This record gives sequence, C-alpha cells and structure tokens, in this order.
Amino acid sequence: MKERVLSGMRPTGALHLGHYHGALKNWVRLQSEMECYYFVADWHALTTHYESREIIEQNVYEMVIDWLAVGLDPNQCTMFLQSRIPEHAELFTLLAMGTPLGWLERVPTYKDQQEKLKDKDLATYGFLGYPLLQAADILIYKAKYVPVGEDQASHVELTREAARRFNHLYGREANALEKAQASLAKLPKDSLKRFEKSRKAYQETGDAKALEGAMGYIASAPELDALDRERLEGYFKGTGKVILPEPQVLLTEASKLPGLDGAKMSKSYNNAIAIREDRATLEHKVKRMPTDPARAKRTDAGNPDNCPVWQFHKVYSPEETKNWVTQGCKTAGIGCLECKQPIIDAILREQQPMFERAEKYLSQPKLVRDIVDAGTEKARITARATMHDVRAAMGLNY
Ligand code: TRP
Ligand code: SF4
Repeated sequence: MKERVLSGMRPTGALHLGHYHGALKNWVRLQSEMECYYFVADWHALTTHYESREIIEQNVYEMVIDWLAVGLDPNQCTMFLQSRIPEHAELFTLLAMGTPLGWLERVPTYKDQQEKLKDKDLATYGFLGYPLLQAADILIYKAKYVPVGEDQASHVELTREAARRFNHLYGREANALEKAQASLAKLPKDSLKRFEKSRKAYQETGDAKALEGAMGYIASAPELDALDRERLEGYFKGTGKVILPEPQVLLTEASKLPGLDGAKMSKSYNNAIAIREDRATLEHKVKRMPTDPARAKRTDAGNPDNCPVWQFHKVYSPEETKNWVTQGCKTAGIGCLECKQPIIDAILREQQPMFERAEKYLSQPKLVRDIVDAGTEKARITARATMHDVRAAMGLNY
C-alpha cells in the first residue's frame, strides 16, 4: 500500500507562479509516488476572510481549475472540499476538548499574522483555533506526510502533539495497568524480572536495544495471546494504542521564484504572474519589471545580483543563457528588454500545457464539479472510518 500524503490550500483565487514553483509542482510529483489527498481549505479561508464570502465562493473552483491545469490528475489523486466533510469539524471539536490554550497561543503564525493583517480583526476564536482545525484535517486521514512550506511546519508539529495527547488519553483500555499486570502474571518469574528491568531502561533513557529485545520477547512468548501482546507493548512503551498516527512534515523548499519586484510573490503585493496569465499581460508585466537601478541608461553596466530579473533566469534559464545574461549585463552588452525576452519565452512555454488542460474545464465547468464531488465522496469514506474509531475510543459510541 502506498503511503498517504495530505495537503490543503486556501482558496485565494487564481493561483500564481509562486504557488506553482513553491507547492504545486511538488504536489504533481507526489501524486504518482504516494496516495495523495489534496483539499480546498475553504473553512481556513474563512478564519481570515469571514467578512467576504463572495470571494471565497468564486475562488474555490478557480483554484481547482488551476490545480488541474498544472497537472493534478483526478485519476491519480483525490481532490476535495473541506466544508463538505463535516467530520473535519467533529474531530476539531473533540480535539479541542483536551488541547491546552497555551499550545495555540504559542503557535508562531498566530501573532505574526495578526501583526501582518492589521486591517482585519483576528482576535477571534476561529483564528486562534485554526491550527487545531488543520490538525483535524490531517489526522482524520491518518496521513503519513504533509507537504507544506516552512511557515506551516509549526502547525504540523502541533498536529503531532495533538495526536500524541489523544493516543495517550484515549488509546488505553479502562484499567490498563491492571490488565497489563494480569498479562504479565502469565510470564515465568525470571522473564518477568528481565522485562521490568528493560522497561525501566527504555522509559528512563530511551534505550533502543532494551525496546528491541523486549518486543522480540513479547512476540514469541508462548504464554501470551494477541491481546496480551498488544497490552504489554503499550505497557512497555508507556503508550496506548495508536488511534491517530503522528504525521511527518515534508518540507517544501521555498519557491525560488520571487515576485516581479523581487519581494515574495503574492497577489496582495501586486507583483504576481497568474498561472493562466494571458499573453499580453504577461509580456507587459515582465517588460515593466524593475532592474538593477545602476542601469539607468542602456550604456550603464549592471550587476545581475541586484536585479529581480536574474532570479527569474535562475529558475527558467539554461546555463548558456545565464552566462549570456551575466556577461551582457556587466558589460552593458545587452539591454534589459533583451535580457527579459528569454524569460517571457520560457514562461509561455511553461504555460502552454496548462492552458491546454484548463480549456476543457473552462468550457465545461460541470467537469470540475464532478471531480470535486467524486473526490469528496471518496475522502469522506476515510474520514467517517476514522471518526468511528475516534468516537469509540472516547466512549461516544452509545
Ligand atoms: N493552513 C494551510 C495554509 O494556510 C492550509 C491547510 C489547511 C493545510 N489544512 C491543511 C495544509 C492541512 C496542509 C495540511 O496554507
Ligand atoms: Fe537585470 Fe538583465 Fe538588465 Fe542586468 S541586463 S539589470 S540582469 S534585466
């Protein structure tokens, strides 16, 4: 069975090349290697944009079209909509019961975003809680890997803590200790002594050899049945049954593609190139890009290191072109417009297949809805199964 990957994206409208080089290219690669679940985090968008529902509504399908345009393939991955799977909210609620407030207040994005988005009132319960909602998004699919950027790593860490706490609180049977002792009593005295000694060594110092030895012993001791073995493993490790496995972050390298002005590419900075930017706008935008200020006149020499266009060459150009740029820039041998042309050409080449894929969906919007419907149905089956286990573990299956 393939390992499961899960990631989500807020529906912020038509995506840009920063999203492509920063996240989506990676999502596309992963879909052929693992079992991938990708979802539209529309509730997450509401944590910061709760006053503008129209925008979110339009953005959802625009974004899915971009996903399809860059090559996410509904036959290879599952694409779905968070708000159609109420089980995410149920798990969020249940996790919230035992999550200390301090865990959420200490998530670095909490204060950072409040600072950055000063024009919005983010002193809301939803905004504080959203990393825990993200934890529910991840844990409900028992995902092994979560591909995200550095900025989201702390949320995956919180997810791991929430899972650990959940397993600790609810992964044990009632009277776990007594039951473990009953299983232990089945063992010969000398084995029992050795078992207790290694348990102490493992729990105090994390002694891996002790763990390995004890697990081997439990697995083969003829006195024990399967239930004894499970109990004793939990007893030895000091853990309960793993109901919600801890995911691992799969750090996505930051996008090397900055915005047109050299700052981070972002729609709100007005420095972005859309994934499906039309040709004329693309050309206009690249031609207007600022360049090394030292090149005020065509005859002034410049330095690529001081120029955002060079960052684009680093992403898009082969060695040969890059040498041509460095040489031509430093000697005023080429003009800036000339220097930008290969970038325009490379982006056009990159976009070509994206436009082709998108065309079908733009002319038949129902296809997009069908893909999301099918993905949502599939994801919901997994989410329901997890919630069944979660409810049982918490004693809610009456
Ligand atoms: N919080 C993420 C963001 O703002 C989006 C997101 C929501 C997500 N749930 C997730 C990412 C689960 C990975 C896994 O970009
Ligand atoms: Fe930038 Fe190219 Fe102009 Fe040099 S020649 S300043 S790298 S655009």
